[in-house]
Amino acid sequence: MPDLKTNYMGLELKNPIIVASSDLSKTAEGIKRCEDAGAGAVVLKSIFEEQFLVEGDIPDTDYSMYPEALDYMRSGGLLEYAPAHICKEIEEAKKEVSIPIIASINCQTSSLWPRFAHQVQEAGADGLELNIYDLPIDPSYSCSSHDAQYVNIIKEVKKEISIPISVKLIPQISSLPYLCRQVAEAGGQGLVFFNWFLEPDIDIEKKTTYSRKGKANFNQALRWVGLIADRVEADLSASGGIRGYEGIVKQLLAGAAAVQICSLFYQKGLQAIGELLEGLSSWMEEHRYSSIEDFRGDLSFKKQELSFRDLGEANNYFRAQYLKVYSK
Ligand SMILES: Cc1cc2nc3c(=O)[nH]c(=O)nc-3n(C[C@H](O)[C@H](O)[C@H](O)COP(=O)(O)O)c2cc1C
Repeated sequence: MPDLKTNYMGLELKNPIIVASSDLSKTAEGIKRCEDAGAGAVVLKSIFEEQFLVEGDIPDTDYSMYPEALDYMRSGGLLEYAPAHICKEIEEAKKEVSIPIIASINCQTSSLWPRFAHQVQEAGADGLELNIYDLPIDPSYSCSSHDAQYVNIIKEVKKEISIPISVKLIPQISSLPYLCRQVAEAGGQGLVFFNWFLEPDIDIEKKTTYSRKGKANFNQALRWVGLIADRVEADLSASGGIRGYEGIVKQLLAGAAAVQICSLFYQKGLQAIGELLEGLSSWMEEHRYSSIEDFRGDLSFKKQELSFRDLGEANNYFRAQYLKVYSK
């Protein structure tokens, strides 16, 4: 039986399968179910600052409150206590499970990132994933200002906590490798490729816009894992579109330390973890690998560049035009 252990963001995982942030990992019971099914770690449902503004019942249109009171509630009065129920779930889960528990936060107010981070660490979280969503929409907002947001958040959070942190990224970044390096230099130990979103669409009869579930792009994550693995001081996890053990093998060969999976478990139940682990183990046995490190990153740009004069197998991470593919 091959050894499936892996190290991700300074945490030792018994295998590379992480149940991604979702309602599957929202409660202590859910986290226990993930462990029982064989997961190597869990990322908890994100704590969204905006969720508390809604749950806290203080919408913008609440004119019954003085603006100062509203500001106070928003900036701390309410939000200071907001993640309390999630912290309780973490505390409960820590008594029951031994796999690493990675909390996840998404804030809009800069002072709340470190505050929420501190609270989840106190509750016992083993790591923290920063779900930073900063879609650049202002034409006068430069790439460097955009990148600086990430770095600031990480630095502020690092001042408050000692547990390892990772950043879940979006693909709409002008130089992803550069941002990844900056994140790593600021202290981010893990990078997650990529976040998953609702996507806009238009009803041409009603002439209205609406949101629909986006499609995770497995190959987009594969490209960036392959290009960035082992070239920045952070471990990578690939998230999106993994539907079988083959997807896990591919991401590991490209250089990921772990994978984050969600939709498959909604479709097939958490017992799918067992099947994925069996598939991964059998593939490793067949290819005579006794540990993940024996092959992790073998098809990354970094390894290929070191072992070949040209780009070797990494060539395909670069290809974006059709010309060569069709003229073969
Ligand atoms: C129902 C559902 C809820 C999710 N909630 C969150 C969330 O709170 N925070 C987050 O960072 N990602 C969230 N995600 C995204 C997942 O964590 C993960 O990145 C993505 O679903 C992985 O792709 P896959 O579903 O193809 O495996 C959610 C996904 C789903 C399907």
